Amino acid sequence: MKEDRYSPGLEGIIAAETRISFLDTEHEEIVIRGYNLLELIRKVSYEAVVGLLLDEKLPDGSRQRELSQAMVQAPVPAPVYDILRKLPASMHAMDRLRTAVSALAGFDPEANSTSPESERLRAPRMIGQIAQIVANLTHIAEGREPQGFFPEYSFSENFLRAIVRRDVSAPEVRAFEQSLIAYVEHELPNSTFAARVVASTLSDAYGALTSAVASLKGPLHGGANEAVMYMLLEAKDVSGLDQLIRRKLSQKERIMGFGHRVYMRRMDPRAQLLKEVLHELISARGEGQVYADMCQRGEDIMRTEKGLYPNLDYYAAPVYYLLGIPIELYTPIFFAARSAGLLAHIIEQHRENRLYRPRVLYTGPRGLSI
Ligand SMILES: CC(C)(COP(=O)(O)OP(=O)(O)OC[C@H]1O[C@@H](n2cnc3c(N)ncnc32)[C@H](O)[C@@H]1OP(=O)(O)O)[C@@H](O)C(=O)NCCC(=O)NCCS
Repeated sequence: MKEDRYSPGLEGIIAAETRISFLDTEHEEIVIRGYNLLELIRKVSYEAVVGLLLDEKLPDGSRQRELSQAMVQAPVPAPVYDILRKLPASMHAMDRLRTAVSALAGFDPEANSTSPESERLRAPRMIGQIAQIVANLTHIAEGREPQGFFPEYSFSENFLRAIVRRDVSAPEVRAFEQSLIAYVEHELPNSTFAARVVASTLSDAYGALTSAVASLKGPLHGGANEAVMYMLLEAKDVSGLDQLIRRKLSQKERIMGFGHRVYMRRMDPRAQLLKEVLHELISARGEGQVYADMCQRGEDIMRTEKGLYPNLDYYAAPVYYLLGIPIELYTPIFFAARSAGLLAHIIEQHRENRLYRPRVLYTGPRGLSI
């Protein structure tokens, strides 16, 4: 095997042909089934984007109502909550979520069907169940009863209400919904690749999603959003963050929420949009300016010192904090939002399957004898 075919971390390698999404860095556009993601975030609901991902076209009113109903009215089987109750509350929220997503398979009679049509039909229900599980993770760990979704609210409002368990304002719901759409789909990151690799063995959607939860947990991927919030809280204010980032950089530490394999030397378009969402949320609530100021200082230092720009996780963290969401749920929310994109990829993989089986560049010894 020729060494020039090896790319550590598969950097720059095209590993799938897809009709779902594309990061067009040349034109600074994230294309989702032909639409610009930023336009979708500004103009449509999360349910509409789910329809777009699953049906390859934006849903009309009746399809959107059907999707909304399926996502909001899919109950989580009681034994899945029983399993969550039995897990140690000290277990990372993503590990509890991984267990619950895997357990859901036991209550879906078609769980082992890898027919793309069966998966497409079951997907809205799965997305709704995953969101309800995520919304209840902290409540269950703290001994409270899980709460389901209600038909009178949209998916995003239900999701936010079930997490914070209080009345939520329209600007809060919109900020949360925009974050969900920002997270919904992003081409071939590690978790989507993991899901497609598992699906390519003709294993089922629950198995593929479970592998994606495990992948997304890592701080180099989805785990960055909670790490950003811990950093902001440790820093307390603008000068604290200034000192903290400079100290971390001098110790050659990575600053969470900066850099991206695809956008390394430019701003993630989703981060720019979430930055606007943060500012809108702050003016709607009349509080939280310190987080915007801290984020701006961090952004300035990283651009000057490292030539690095924020990614989506950097601005999602303070948005979630101002909404009163427990920090341990930031990465699970990312997964719940991304489950729609992941299912679209699993369906596409099953529709046009070829087993993933790459080769290695062997650097070990040869010719040893016993
Ligand atoms: C996302 C990430 C893993 C991409 O990394 P990658 O494509 O493998 O790039 P590399 O790790 O090779 O980084 C390239 C250079 O940028 C530096 N760099 C990248 N991200 C950095 C960060 N967040 N803080 C400090 N330096 C960083 C690396 O140290 C490296 O510098 P060097 O060439 O002097 O060694 C990386 O940017 C990172 O760790 N970011 C922080 C975690 C994060 O926010 N993840 C969410 C991604 S959406």
